[in-house]
Amino acid sequence: MGFKEEIERRRTFAIISHPDAGKTTLTEKLLLFGGAIHVAGAVKSNKIKKTATSDFMEIERQRGISVATSVMGFEYGGNKINILDTPGHQDFAEDTFRTLTAVDSVIVVVDAAKGVEPQTKRLMEVCRMRKTPVIVFINKVDREGKDPFDTLDEIEEQLKIKVRPLSWPVGMGQRLKGIYNIFNKTFYYFSAEDKTTAEEPKEFKNLNDPELDIALKTHAQQLRDDLELVEGVYPEFDINEYLNAETAPVFFGSALYNFGVKELLESFIHIAPYPRPSTADERMVDPFEDKFSGFVFKIHANMDPNHRDRIAFVKICSGIFKRNTNYQHIRLNRKLKFASPTAFMAEKKSIVEEAFPGDIVGLHDTGNFKIGDTLTEGELFSFKGLPSFSPEMFRYIENADPMKTKQLNKGVDQLMDEGVAQLFTLDMNGRKVIGCVGQLQFEVIEYRLLHEYGAKCRYENFKMHKACWIKSNNNEEWEDFKRRKYKSIAKDKHGRYVYLSETPYDLQMAQSKFKNLEFLFTSEF
Ligand code: G4P
Repeated sequence: MGFKEEIERRRTFAIISHPDAGKTTLTEKLLLFGGAIHVAGAVKSNKIKKTATSDFMEIERQRGISVATSVMGFEYGGNKINILDTPGHQDFAEDTFRTLTAVDSVIVVVDAAKGVEPQTKRLMEVCRMRKTPVIVFINKVDREGKDPFDTLDEIEEQLKIKVRPLSWPVGMGQRLKGIYNIFNKTFYYFSAEDKTTAEEPKEFKNLNDPELDIALKTHAQQLRDDLELVEGVYPEFDINEYLNAETAPVFFGSALYNFGVKELLESFIHIAPYPRPSTADERMVDPFEDKFSGFVFKIHANMDPNHRDRIAFVKICSGIFKRNTNYQHIRLNRKLKFASPTAFMAEKKSIVEEAFPGDIVGLHDTGNFKIGDTLTEGELFSFKGLPSFSPEMFRYIENADPMKTKQLNKGVDQLMDEGVAQLFTLDMNGRKVIGCVGQLQFEVIEYRLLHEYGAKCRYENFKMHKACWIKSNNNEEWEDFKRRKYKSIAKDKHGRYVYLSETPYDLQMAQSKFKNLEFLFTSEF
């Protein structure tokens, strides 16, 4: 197979959802179809359950699982599919944001009864920022849920994207009769028998088949009426609108009962984009270019103190990545080669000789990589960085063991390179502040500093509302701002200025007073 065909058959995507909507279950069913696993239950949820907030062994176990399922590759219908897993727990949302920079499209899972939930909204904002094509899967139709038309309205309104149903449920919960696939105009009859295999359900090709009336009784007419309404309300599906992230095709189903999942997968491989061009600071990089390039979107540390190596996950953006070949590490301005790059097929890892755009390779790392690093075949460019979001919780981090200052500094540095949290250094006195999205991150940092670096840290409260990056095109105003707010000015780990506002009111006042300064809540490094 040629280089071009290899790229065109790749589909690299993530499944995102609010916890419990069914992301893990859906992932598992997709893997079953791909023959990547053979029994249900093989994919463990990487959710960190609420009860485990202070159970570090549990966190460690979960992290172990999540490295195994970080990337799940499999072959399906001539396509190479790469599913990038995202942490279920919202305290690790930043991890998910970064993973979203490495995918070419996304499937959003929405619970039919609960509708759009907060975490889904936040993740969708990232997709919108990056214009990532989105397919919505409305899950759990085997349970009583909201009216499908209401759910679609809610998605349009809350996720701020036009929708276009491509399948339609007949009944819900106890009354679920099946699903009509609008894409290939076939009705699939639901029988709640087999949850585990990828067997074909009974199907009807013709909506006016009298057998359908016998099978569905009054639901048959209801289906015809609903479909008429669907066709009347929603414009015809336009693949370009989907690829431009303007319209989200919607599918209904039950991941648990493996129903509607195959339709989703079949349509997905048909319409979802193959690797798209990536933006570097200097230029756009096309996947079909013959020279290799890629970037690190995730670093996973080995929690075992005896094996301090880490895995850097690299998304291949162009050309062919080859084992034992020298590549340019742009930030370090050094050539590096990799003897054992790893590919991820289902739950197995294996050393690969080469990998194509859209693929993810895992590189063993002894401290060379930071999140966002670019590798190329020689050309000097850097992929546009990964977004950082204003954290919501802040604490001073202090050294609790003066004998271990070096270890603490090294640990904090490396954990920040991994993207575990964000570090801000106050301009005024050099004190270090850790910014997190959730409480769990603080606990993970404390635990890892102790167990991996032998360093003891102590947190002190730092009451803070938000951190925002400042952009200024008026030097005078910026200097004035720095003077007045000197207690609240810090630098992030890239040396960029950040304003730490104590209250929403302070922020509002600053925004209205300093009109020539831009207060940014996300930053793309
Ligand atoms: P997540 O990764 O998005 O957090 O969700 P996950 O797949 O773990 O699913 C959350 C719960 O919802 C699980 O139940 C799962 O079995 C259930 N579920 C997923 N899809 C469906 C569906 O289509 N229909 C129904 N009725 N339930 C579904 P649990 O009781 O929390 O866990 P478990 O003990 O079943 O694993």
